[in-house]
Amino acid sequence: MELKLILVLLLLLLAVGATADYVRPPPRKTLSFPWSKKPSSLPQQVHISLAGDKHMRIMWVTNDKNSPSIVEYGKSPNNYSFSSEGESTRYSYLLYSSGKIHHAVIGPLEDDTTYFYRCGGEGPEFQLKTPPSQFPITFAVAGDLGQTGWTKSTLDHIDQCKYDVHMLPGDLSYADYIQRRWDTFGELVQPLASARPWMVTQGNHEKEHIPFLEDSFVSYNSRWKMPYEESASSSNLYYSFEVAGVHVIMLGSYTDYDEYSDQYAWLKADLSKVDRKRTPWLIVLFHVPWYNSNEAHQGEGDNMKTAMEPLLYAAGVDIVFAGHVHAYERSSRVYNGKSDPCGAVHITIGDGGNREGLARKYKEPKPEWSVFREASFGHGELKIVNSTHAFWSWHRNDDDEPVRSDQFWITSLFGSSCCAENGPELRKMLLEP
Ligand SMILES: *[C@@H]1O[C@H](CO)[C@@H](O)[C@H](O)[C@H]1NC(C)=O
Ligand SMILES: *[C@@H]1O[C@H](CO)[C@@H](O)[C@H](O)[C@H]1NC(C)=O
Repeated sequence: MELKLILVLLLLLLAVGATADYVRPPPRKTLSFPWSKKPSSLPQQVHISLAGDKHMRIMWVTNDKNSPSIVEYGKSPNNYSFSSEGESTRYSYLLYSSGKIHHAVIGPLEDDTTYFYRCGGEGPEFQLKTPPSQFPITFAVAGDLGQTGWTKSTLDHIDQCKYDVHMLPGDLSYADYIQRRWDTFGELVQPLASARPWMVTQGNHEKEHIPFLEDSFVSYNSRWKMPYEESASSSNLYYSFEVAGVHVIMLGSYTDYDEYSDQYAWLKADLSKVDRKRTPWLIVLFHVPWYNSNEAHQGEGDNMKTAMEPLLYAAGVDIVFAGHVHAYERSSRVYNGKSDPCGAVHITIGDGGNREGLARKYKEPKPEWSVFREASFGHGELKIVNSTHAFWSWHRNDDDEPVRSDQFWITSLFGSSCCAENGPELRKMLLEP
């Protein structure tokens, strides 16, 4: 009997030892995209996003400047009962000039329904599925993607999961001034981003600012138009959307956020419209984490945290997703640097697979609020089951299959005493001029 127990203990120790000795695979190369001749009117880099209640925005690029910005769509293949005409834009950046960037809003669309569509009146047919109008709903989350072998593996793993909406907390293409890389990124993500809405916010790699020559976010704003007008924002760098009982706020870490800024005023106005009876879940995304125990980018989010955390706390935000640090970390519910049952869970998920590699060094000792941290590439899945319960899982890529490495159930603050207690404080803050 005792011998058996000792054996079991030994085996357990061995198992633990094996995980600790786990050797991380090396970085992977940037993907190469061989040039191939395409008809100039061929729709390329097709991606979609939510654009207000029951509507989607379809975006694509053609080299042909005369190609129309029209989307035809319907509920059965090759049978387009509807069509919608949008607009187009172009930009130039140093010596580069973009193709014609089209965007068209389609709808009203039925919920949880597959639509078939084509762009510009020709070319291949694409399929998209609209999100459900009620729980359950599943989000895929991955930031700091880039375009390396690891990005490809992250995307392949996301593709295997059943999800409704992709959320990306900044750093998309890692084009880093080389505009052609925005095109190859569009090509890389098209299979996923043409099928499910991609809701993104900006990171430092989207800035591409060159003093006296190029403004910030020129390419990002032209190519990845998000529903900011639909959410009463004046900037593509921050906006919100609602889907199936979830209110999601996308903030900008690289635009003004102090209490006199437009973004701050917009955030206050947006929070004042949140009705937790309609959207029991409140989620926020931005690029630079506020709770980060990695050595990388330490303290960079502090100013934004000081300015905006009290608002998010009073509003009872459930989850905050950030990127920037190329690793994964999950906090307890936390506020003002300490665990707090009325604060948000902060999840850093800047580990999509970019070419800069992983951020391996953590601060010791681990802060009290840090529950799980690991430097591996991967993606997350958030399944919101009902108005009170959601299941979060993080899947690391390293084993070339999506290994579920961290998971937990989270309950929303809706209906908790936190919202009731902080309610008056929030109202006071929202009413301040
Ligand atoms: C095309 O779609 C319409 C409307 O959805 C439908 O009534 C019609 O039967 C479809 N035609 C074919 C050939 O599938
Ligand atoms: C919500 O889902 C959780 C987990 O499945 C379950 O325990 C709970 O009873 C559900 N609540 C409601 C109101 O359905």
